[in-house]
Amino acid sequence: ELRDIGVVGMAVMGSNLALNMADHGFAVSVYNYTPDLTEKFVTERPHDNIKGYYDLKEFIGSLKKPRKIMLMIMAGAPVDSMIEQLIPILDAGDIIIDGGNSYFGDTRRRCERCSEAGIHFYGMGISGGENGARRGPSIMPGGNKDTYPEIQPVYEAIAAKAADGKPCCTYIGEDGAGHYVKMVHNGIEYADMQLISEAYLLLKYVGGYDNAKISEIFHQWNQGELKSFLIGIAADIFAEDDEAGGQVVDYIVDAAGQKGTGRWTSIESMKQGVDISMITAACNARVMSNQPGRKVAQEVIHKPALTKQEGEAFIEAVRQSLYTAKIVAYAQGFSLYRSASETYGWNLDYGSIASIFRAGCIIQAEFLNKITEAYEKNPNLENLMFDEFFLDKINANQASLRKIVCLAVSEGIPVPAYANAMEYIDAYSSPRVGANLIQALRDYFGAHTFKRVDKEGTFHHQWKEHYTK
Ligand code: 6PG
Repeated sequence: ELRDIGVVGMAVMGSNLALNMADHGFAVSVYNYTPDLTEKFVTERPHDNIKGYYDLKEFIGSLKKPRKIMLMIMAGAPVDSMIEQLIPILDAGDIIIDGGNSYFGDTRRRCERCSEAGIHFYGMGISGGENGARRGPSIMPGGNKDTYPEIQPVYEAIAAKAADGKPCCTYIGEDGAGHYVKMVHNGIEYADMQLISEAYLLLKYVGGYDNAKISEIFHQWNQGELKSFLIGIAADIFAEDDEAGGQVVDYIVDAAGQKGTGRWTSIESMKQGVDISMITAACNARVMSNQPGRKVAQEVIHKPALTKQEGEAFIEAVRQSLYTAKIVAYAQGFSLYRSASETYGWNLDYGSIASIFRAGCIIQAEFLNKITEAYEKNPNLENLMFDEFFLDKINANQASLRKIVCLAVSEGIPVPAYANAMEYIDAYSSPRVGANLIQALRDYFGAHTFKRVDKEGTFHHQWKEHYTK
């Protein structure tokens, strides 16, 4: 009896996805480059619907046609190498699905490469960590639209289900679209996490609250409009005691890691000419957290003394600011989708992207329902901040965000994500942003020309050296 799907890569994500598929009644073949992981998986976590293979040809031979082979291996060169091993032993019409965090440009190239051999290649964004993979992740498939129905049932079955029962899996677009959407999801994840960390710093150092109180505050926030996976797990983290006394969070070195997807998002935004300053700020904050020079700077730069700001009004201002800044982070991420959709010809459906983020993924939040609604109302919304719901929030909460950013600056607490949210709102909504002077300077030193407010056309001015002679 031939089997439904094959999974290559038996590290934690691959194993959990295979088990998830098996639980949904699919017959799954599994294979790993080194046999030890396959053996460990099938002996330690046996499942009636899973069969391990130790030879790539036998593994391929076990699958129904068109064969569906999902790669859950390390992004980068290993994916290319596996594709090259698979192409000669697959038949035209077979399907390779890359479920790793691959760079979307690589995915576009791999689609081309595979299509030369008549093979369909899908780049699939998967979010939700190991638990999501096991119990229901959010899934972002990109690739050939016509053959998508071949793989759709498996992925809709294993995906998380939103509150309305809909699977958090939808066809995103051709070639690298799925990995692109996942990349920006991660960029938003960076901004979201940075905001949460800044709220924590404010509560801890300006508010003077201890971990127990901060845990309680986050738990409270998680009952309202900020309800989300990340706020929920933050509440858990602050409550976690350490065997050495106190809480685990205080023993963790203050330097953040990253695998690169946030940085890719930031670099891509520069190429697209889209301002995603909060995501870039979040990347930089991780970079800064690792600077060895922080030790020296702490000694030589004198910080102002902290003034305590505790009280419900302060906590509420931090919360409102967090919510407002979060709107900006998503507005920026979705602006990048808008631009990419045009550049790469993907015809992205922003509402359905938001809808598959409602459950399963790391950035899942109550608030995603509102984003879905905003794009349902206006599929071509220029910027999320222009939707009535979000606009009302920004107008109602901007005073808090201003207050918190000013307070943080005067107290010497770094809040790059909060501050960039404020900057974005202000730059976007200011009648003058100083670009007229930039144009004048460019024209002065390089005859780069400018446009005038009072007449059509392009102008160059003969600037006089009043003071510089
Ligand atoms: C997810 C996560 C996942 C992973 C990233 C984070 O959606 O499940 O985004 O893909 O946590 O690797 O990357 P960093 O290591 O760069 O934080």
